[in-house]
Parts: sequence; structure tokens; C-alpha cells
Amino acid sequence: MLKLFVVELLVLLASSSVLSIEVDTDLGRVRGANLTSRLGVPFHAFRGIRYAEPPLGDLRFVNPLPVKPWSPTTFDASEDGPMCPQPWDNMTDVSEDCLRLNVYTKDLKGLRPVIVFLHPGGFYVFSGQSKYLAGPEHFMDRDCVLVSLNYRLGSLGFLATGSKEAPGNAGLKDQVLALRWIQRHIHRFGGDPGSVTLLGYSAGSISVALHMLSPMSRGLFHRGICMSAAPYGPIPFKDNDLRLAKRQAGLLKCPQESIAEMVECMRRKPYLDYVSTYNGMFEFGWNPVLNWRIVVEEDFGQERYLIESPFKTARRGDFYKVPLITGITEFEFLSGAFFDLRNESIVSRYNTDWEQYASIALLLEPNSTKSQAASRVLREKYMPESMDKIEYPKSLKGMGELFSDALIGVSFHRFLQLMSPHTPIYTYLFRYKGRYTRVV
Ligand SMILES: *[C@@H]1O[C@H](CO)[C@@H](O)[C@H](O)[C@H]1NC(C)=O
Ligand SMILES: *[C@@H]1O[C@H](CO)[C@@H](O)[C@H](O)[C@H]1NC(C)=O
Ligand SMILES: *[C@@H]1O[C@H](CO)[C@@H](O)[C@H](O)[C@H]1NC(C)=O
Ligand SMILES: *[C@@H]1O[C@H](CO)[C@@H](O)[C@H](O)[C@H]1NC(C)=O
Repeated sequence: MLKLFVVELLVLLASSSVLSIEVDTDLGRVRGANLTSRLGVPFHAFRGIRYAEPPLGDLRFVNPLPVKPWSPTTFDASEDGPMCPQPWDNMTDVSEDCLRLNVYTKDLKGLRPVIVFLHPGGFYVFSGQSKYLAGPEHFMDRDCVLVSLNYRLGSLGFLATGSKEAPGNAGLKDQVLALRWIQRHIHRFGGDPGSVTLLGYSAGSISVALHMLSPMSRGLFHRGICMSAAPYGPIPFKDNDLRLAKRQAGLLKCPQESIAEMVECMRRKPYLDYVSTYNGMFEFGWNPVLNWRIVVEEDFGQERYLIESPFKTARRGDFYKVPLITGITEFEFLSGAFFDLRNESIVSRYNTDWEQYASIALLLEPNSTKSQAASRVLREKYMPESMDKIEYPKSLKGMGELFSDALIGVSFHRFLQLMSPHTPIYTYLFRYKGRYTRVV
């Protein structure tokens, strides 16, 4: 091991001053960059490769189209591509032409196992860019090919009107298109299309589970790792989220009477208008933390991502069965309670109408008497010390545990129960406290 490391270090030191590397694909030539891993292993990085046509204009809200060949020009993938529209400090990092993936490999020859990272962010923030949370420096110490990718987010990715204009799940269909790209092209980068592991965190973990259920994703991967989320929360799946679509239309000053006219207007708004209206899309603070919904699509002639409720598919055992590792982190999402408790206006909502606001924050069906009753009982069980008043720091532990169970635990346990009769599952509970651990 050490010997290998020294040899690779020498190779690196001896290498010429050529900083770039090029690969030929069926679509055209791609230029990458040479980087080094955490332990000093040299590898090649091809970042920001376009895998779909830019989802602009008529392509907004609908199924993505595969990218057209760019030959004879060379696609410059030597730096990170843009992230999908979302609030961000540096908007030069953001573009609607964001359907990009990144390939990291030590060697263009051979067939190494491929790991595909699906990023977190509740389906409305973050990206697969290398410079934030999806960097390759650790994986490239090991013998694999890593792919990370972007998919459409927020209303641009998940507008679901229950009609052909915006059938829903566009962001997940983007992921499918990227997985198809991997099947066709990854061997050019030294990756084995017959050994693809999906690794998803949070919204990415929900995505991995959904790819096991979707007819679109069958056969495109071979193993899954689901970290910290599953698609089995308390709210039933519906065929649209017209309420949220109209909310977005209202914020964009688009008419809401006819869905066709509404969506037509929404297609013409600049993406920055979606970014600047993010706050207005939530009920209060960042609640509900899963705001844009995955839907069961009716047939409008489009290729459908989900054709029935994931509960039904799992119970029937008729899904794409791959071996899984899945687990959660202790006190996961305690940070959500921490964030809310530090905000006076949110605390005052909880204190004036706990049942209404807790139903939203705990991802229960909104505006239902059943959810309100549940919120009442949950407060008694989890927060007996806060029956008179909710306040920081007294309520943090109880409310933190409640958030952990409601946002992550419930759905995780349902996922295990539904899947484990049909496919091998290995579980973990992550509870390591390191020097960067915060809050608890
Ligand atoms: C970049 O990678 C290519 C292909 O392995 C190699 O020929 C070249 O020497 C590398 N450049 C550097 C500076 O490592
Ligand atoms: C913003 O991002 C661009 C592109 O990544 C970069 O060139 C620029 O330095 C960044 N600006 C700031 C202020 O960080
Ligand atoms: C507190 O929450 C309110 C309501 O969501 C929000 O408008 C406000 O910006 C938040 N304040 C801080 C300091 O985050
Ligand atoms: C709940 O009901 C209120 C009042 O009828 C309405 O304004 C709000 O949009 C509803 N919220 C949800 C999430 O359905």
C-alpha cells in the first residue's frame, strides 16, 4: 500500500507539465484536468459535462432531452460547471443550463466500479459541484470511478400541475438521464457500466429508493446506499401539487385560472425570479423541509417516472431489487429544531398554535384534524418539559428528538419494513461525535 503510494507520488513528480487530459466519447471529445487525491494519488477530473439539452423555455418542467453531440469541438470540462438555480452568495456559479455531471477517474483504461453520488438539499438546494460537499479527494484514494451530478431543483425541477404542461418529477428524470449517460459512456473513463452503485444522502437517498421503484431506472444501477432519508413519510402520494404550483405562479405574478396559461407564463419568467421567490414558497422558516413533492404521474404521453404509489409498489414486491446499505445519524435534524428555536417569530408561532405549525414542520398532512391530534400527543410524549412554553434552550432536546424521528426515523423504518422482505439490506446507525460535531 505504502509502496504503491510512493510509486504514484513519483509518477506525479515525474510527470510532464501537461495539465489537461482529453477523452473521446460518442458525443465528442471532453477535456479534463489532472488533480491529486487526499493521499496524493493523481487522478483526472472531467467536470460540468452536459448530459442533457439545457432545460430552457419549452423544456422547462418537462422530461429532459439527451444532449446532442458536440463534435467536432472539444467540450471543456476542466472546471466545475454551474449549479442549478437556487439562492446562493455567488450567482455566477448558477445557471439554468445546469444538467451537468462530473467524472473522476484514476485511469481511463480498465473497468472500475462506479459510484454515483446523488446530492442532498431537500430537492431545492445544493449541487454535485466538487468544491462544496461532493468533492472527489477521498474517493480517489480508492480504486473506483466517481460520478456526481446536478438535477433540477425547486419549482424548476418539481412543478407538478397534474397536466401535460408540468407532469412532475423532472429533477428525478434528470437523474435517470444521467444514469443512462453513464451506461453509454462511462467505459471511456475507465468505469464499469455493469457495476454502478448509487450513493445518496438525504434527498439523494430518497432518490436512490425511488430509482428502485421507478420503471425508468430499472437496470441502470446494481447496488444502493441510502444515507439518512427515504420516501415513506406520512403524507400520501398524489398525482399533482397544484397548490404549490399556484403559490409559485402567484409569486411570479402569473395567472392561475387556466393551468395551460399559468405554465406558459411561468416558462417565460427568468430563472432569477424563481430564486428570489424561494422564501415565499415555504410556510414559515424552511418548513416544511420537504416542500416540493414527488408525484405519481398520469399518462399524458410522457415517459413516466412513477406510475403508482411507492407504498403499493413496495408492498407488491414488484420493484428493481438491488442490495442496499442504509442508515441514519443519531439526532439527525436536531438542527431543524435548533434553527426554529433560535428564531423568535417561529417560536411564537409554535407557542400560539402548536398543532397547526407542528403539523407542517413534522411533515404531517397539513390542515388535517388527525395531524393536529398527532402533534398534540407528540408534544406530550417528546416535550413534557415544554408543555407550558416552548423556548430555547429548554425545548431543544425534546423537540430535536421529535424532529429526528418525524423527519427521518419514521420514513426510514417504514422503508426498512417494506424493502427487507424482498432484497438484502445492511443497516447502520451513525453516532460518532468528532471534533467538528456541533449542537449535541
Ligand atoms: C495529466 O494526465 C495525462 C494522462 O495521464 C498525462 O499524460 C500528463 O502527464 C498529466 N499531467 C500532469 C501534470 O500530471
Ligand atoms: C464567483 O464564482 C466565479 C465562478 O466560479 C468565480 O470566478 C468568482 O471568483 C467568484 N466570486 C467570488 C466573489 O467568490
Ligand atoms: C425568522 O423566521 C421568519 C419567519 O419565517 C423569517 O421571516 C425571519 O427572516 C427569520 N429570522 C431570522 C433571523 O432568521
Ligand atoms: C391550510 O389552510 C389555510 C386556510 O384555509 C390555507 O391558507 C393554507 O394554504 C392551507 N395550507 C396547506 C399546506 O394546505
